[in-house]
This record gives sequence, structure tokens and C-alpha cells, in this order.
Amino acid sequence: MGQLVIVSNRVAIPEKNAKARAGGLEVAVQAALKRKSGIWFGWSGKVATQTKIATQQVVHDKITYITLDLSKEDHQEYYNGFTNRVLWPILHYRIDLAEFSRRDLSGYLRVNDHFARELHEVLGPDDLIWVHDYHLMPLAKALRERGHKNRIGFFLHIPCPPPEMLTALPNHERLIPSLCEYDLVGFQTGDDAFNFSRYLTRECGLHSHDFNFMVADRTIRIDVFPVGIETAAFAHLAERSVRLPFVQRVIRSLNGRALIIGVDRLDYSKGIPQRLSAFELFLQTQPDWRSKVTYLQIAPKSRTEIPEYADMEQEIGSAAGRINGAFGEADWTPIRYVNRSYGHTTLAGLYRAARVGLVTPLRDGMNLVAKEYVASQNPDDPGVLVLSRFAGAAHECKAALLVNPYDPDSVAAAIGQALSMPLVERRERHEALFRVLSHNNVQQWADRFLTALEREPTPLSRLEQMLSVEP
Ligand code: UDP
Ligand code: G6P
Repeated sequence: MGQLVIVSNRVAIPEKNAKARAGGLEVAVQAALKRKSGIWFGWSGKVATQTKIATQQVVHDKITYITLDLSKEDHQEYYNGFTNRVLWPILHYRIDLAEFSRRDLSGYLRVNDHFARELHEVLGPDDLIWVHDYHLMPLAKALRERGHKNRIGFFLHIPCPPPEMLTALPNHERLIPSLCEYDLVGFQTGDDAFNFSRYLTRECGLHSHDFNFMVADRTIRIDVFPVGIETAAFAHLAERSVRLPFVQRVIRSLNGRALIIGVDRLDYSKGIPQRLSAFELFLQTQPDWRSKVTYLQIAPKSRTEIPEYADMEQEIGSAAGRINGAFGEADWTPIRYVNRSYGHTTLAGLYRAARVGLVTPLRDGMNLVAKEYVASQNPDDPGVLVLSRFAGAAHECKAALLVNPYDPDSVAAAIGQALSMPLVERRERHEALFRVLSHNNVQQWADRFLTALEREPTPLSRLEQMLSVEP
């Protein structure tokens, strides 16, 4: 067997004094690789200043990190353009925000081709290739065109909308079917896998047997692999971190008030403006809680060169200011709004100190923050997770208070319910949630995906035979 080669746009390059960065893919792959060896290939996170673009290689703990810079043009067209202004909104059910240009699409295909060209230099014939996320959908095709017959898997970290929405993507017929060049395509939830399989049937005329699709002379398998966290390690970290001087300072600054926490990249998919409105409604409708709660929203800036992100930043800043102005007192600020990012050690302590974890994305592939909040709680006196039904995590976290983020009344009511929930119920819910998250942790996610990828597919002839058998 060859080596494992992970490919993703973001790579958690081991660097001294690395700044805490937000992003579920990086966090999950990094955790999954802890017990493995191989290559992690992707973008360095830098935009090249010279015309000649070099790749960099670092070896650390049995992993070889190979990264390349993007040219200014590639960064603009591929990252700021097609991936994050077209694919991201459409796959998050926001067709209204998509800004398509042919130029960006060709930049996207060019960067995928560039990745394939560089990978070609390092791939062995038996290497197992695991490609991550929407930035790299056509990568298998670009590798196959170079003659690679390796087993290649793809995992989509973000949602996959129904075909009625996917077809709003200009040139979808060029892009989406290219996923059939993978041997295994993994999704976060059954809904995502079902939507994709409906696309293949409706738009490509392909038929499946038990989620095996026959494409020419090969089969591709579609399956569900909900991404997890390092549940036990996070729980231990939180136990220690809550004693950190910084976390203790935050706790003291609350003056006995209950803490509600939100942690999200500043992204419109996270529903932060809607969450602020729901919190405002909570203060209006449940005035007894005024001066007794503090809502801390940690929201590191993300994709700042994209106009929709800059607009949202303005909107959230002014909404938080307005609510604080309207409800605050000289000795109480209802919302603490922070744009910086924190490392997992600090976050774990803050999660544990919070009575409520407020996770209300409008749409999210998984949402690791929801899982981290649960893992961080003190099992004897746990806080309550208020979770959007539109986060992938809601499929597993059924014991959370599930809400509709578009309905401020339901979110405001859930905040009140969470704050006044009796200990017995909090414990029951936490125990159920923790059990699910321990069962499906990040190691299991990676192992299940890689085992499925390694497995030989059912030969086409056998599938045909199986399909021709009358019931
Ligand atoms: N995160 C972090 N520091 C921050 C904010 C977020 O380390 O200040 C991490 C967070 O703990 C989680 C990840 O970034 O592991 C975010 O993943 P999630 O799936 O919740 O959302 P994404 O950003 O991938 O959409
Ligand atoms: C989501 C995506 C990842 C991405 C992350 C951070 O988790 O699924 O692919 O890395 O957001 O976004 P960024 O654009 O900073 O990589």
C-alpha cells in the first residue's frame, strides 16, 4: 500500500507561534492526521509576490506538508471569486448572493489543474488520495487526465443543496458531474448525500444501487461521514482550561451573570445578525433576565476581501452597538462582541464557563463549535446547547434545544428555556449528547472514510447482475 495523500485548500502548516485560525476543515484534518503518516498538500495561505511560484515542503511528526502560494490572479479568481462568491453561497442555499463570472470559473479550473500538476510530481501509483471540500471538486478529473488510476476520495465539508438549487450554478453540468471521477464521495449528512444522488439521477441520468453509481466502466460510491471532534481530549482540555488566568478573569468580569457564548467565523452562513435580533427579542420579552446575562460573541474576521463579508461585518457591528445602547446600563453591557480568534485551549475554558452555547447558523455542513461546546461541559453541572436545525450537527445532536434560526421567537424562547433549565434535565441532555459525540469522534470519521475508500468497489458486472434480479 502506498501513502496517504490529503489535499485541501487550507493546510494547518506547523509553524512556531502560529496564530489561532478558525475553520472546521483545518481543525478536523489536523486532528485526524495525529495518528497517521503521509502528505498534506494545499495552499500555503500566501499570495506570491514573484512570478515564479515555488512549492514549500516541511516534515513534522511523520507528515510531509507540501504547500504552494497562489498568484495574485489565482487568489482573486479562484479563492475570492469562484470558490467563495459562487460555490460557497450556492452550496449554502444562498443563490441570491452568488456572483458568477466566466473568468473566475477559468481561474478555478486553472488552480485545480495547477494542484494536479504539482501533485503529479509526488504521487506514487498506490497512494490513497483524499481530497477535501468545494475548492477542489475537479481535482480527480485533472489527475485522471494525467493518467492517475489511484483510489481517490472526496469529502464535502459544507452542505450539498437539492438539484433544483445546484442547477442554478452556471456551468454546473461541467463541474458537478466531474465528482464522478472520484471513487468515493462523502457528505456530512444523509440529506446532503441524497441531494447529490438526486442530482446525478436527474441531471446525468445515472442510477444507483444502494448509493453505488455506475459511470461508464466504474462505480462511484456515495456515503455519509459526519465529521467529529476529539471529544475526550476536548473534555480534558476544558477541565484544565477553565482554570487559566485569562478564563478566570473573564469569569470574574461577569460578576455572577450567566454567560451565553457564540463562536463563529464572520460568515453570513452563521446567521449572526439573526441571532442578535433573537437575543434582542429575548431581552425585550423576558426582562427579568436583563442585567443577569452576558452574551459573548467571538467572531474572527474571514474572507475580508469579499464584499458580502465586509457588508455583514458592518451590519453586525452596528446591530451589537445598537442593542447595547438600548438595553445596557452603566454597569452592564449585554453583548461583548470580539473580532479576534482564540486558540482551542482558551475556547475550551470559555465554553465550559458558559451556561448556554448559542449555535444558530442558517445553514452549516456540520458545525464543530456545537460539538466542542458539548464536549467542554462539566458533566455534573452542564450548560445547554441551543442549536440550529439547519446545522449538520443537528442530525446527531438531537438532545440539544433545536431551533429555527429564521424564527427569532423560537430562538428567544430557547435562550430563556436554556437559562432556566433544571439540573436534572441539563444532565440528561448532556449525557445523551456526549455519548453520541464520543461514539463518532474525529478519528472514527477519518478511519471510516479511509476504510471505505480502500475497499474494492463491487465490480460492475456483479452490480448489473444484482440490479437485474427481480424482487
Ligand atoms: N475556531 C478557533 N478559534 C476561533 C474561532 C473558531 O479555533 O476564534 C475553531 C473552532 O473551535 C472550530 C472551527 O474553528 O474548531 C470552526 O469550525 P466550524 O465547523 O464550527 O465552522 P467553520 O468555520 O468551519 O465554518
Ligand atoms: C469552512 C470550509 C473550509 C474552510 C473554512 C475556513 O470550514 O469548509 O474549507 O477552510 O471554512 O475558510 P477559509 O476561506 O478561511 O479557508
